[in-house]
Amino acid sequence: MKFFVDTASLDAIHEAHDMGVLDGVTTNPSLVKKEGNVDFHKRVFEICEVVDGDVSAEVTATDFNGMMEEAHTLANIHENVVVKIPLIKEGIKALKALSDEGIRTNCTLCFSPTQALIAAKAGASYISPFIGRVDDISSNGMQLIEEVIQIYDNYGFETEVLAASIRHPMHVKEAALAGADVATMPFETMTKLLDHPLTDRGLERFLDDWEDYKASRKAEAGMAG
Ligand code: E4P
Repeated sequence: MKFFVDTASLDAIHEAHDMGVLDGVTTNPSLVKKEGNVDFHKRVFEICEVVDGDVSAEVTATDFNGMMEEAHTLANIHENVVVKIPLIKEGIKALKALSDEGIRTNCTLCFSPTQALIAAKAGASYISPFIGRVDDISSNGMQLIEEVIQIYDNYGFETEVLAASIRHPMHVKEAALAGADVATMPFETMTKLLDHPLTDRGLERFLDDWEDYKASRKAEAGMAG
């Protein structure tokens, strides 16, 4: 499973990259807004300079021509840019046209298996089903991931399933069990994957015992001398 960090924060991206397990980045207009007064295109370039992997950057036009124009600008920023296109009718047209041009895409705002099916038919490189937002409306986000994977397997689609809107480690675990190709998550969630009280307690005991061992060795050496 590839790990992407879901942020436009350079600090968070540097931290995730330093852990050595980062495969890419996803951004969206809301994440860019959180960063305050930054130049979007410059930030996309800066992210690409840090991470050796795919970096999703989203268009904001909702018509075909506007999406294509923005997509070309974004794709020209860096070879690792993947253009994020919303799952609407004009978006499907743009996915097909961009795929024909060899520009890689991430089809975003996916909330149903039939949406995912049509995005794959249009040639999307990634599909982003939003787990957390489906859970938020008392539905089952993980079932969406499972059904998309099943449909893609049935027909041999090469579109990668990118589990998005991940809120906690259980989402990551279940998406991994389902076989999602990628999980994109906030950096805080990535660090939470490591948390276990028995690890903390076990390490504390090992270190205490090591101190006792060293003290007794020192005492024995003193008696012998
Ligand atoms: C990533 O590509 C998505 O835009 C993101 O995961 C959405 O997450 P949210 O539902 O927590 O805003």
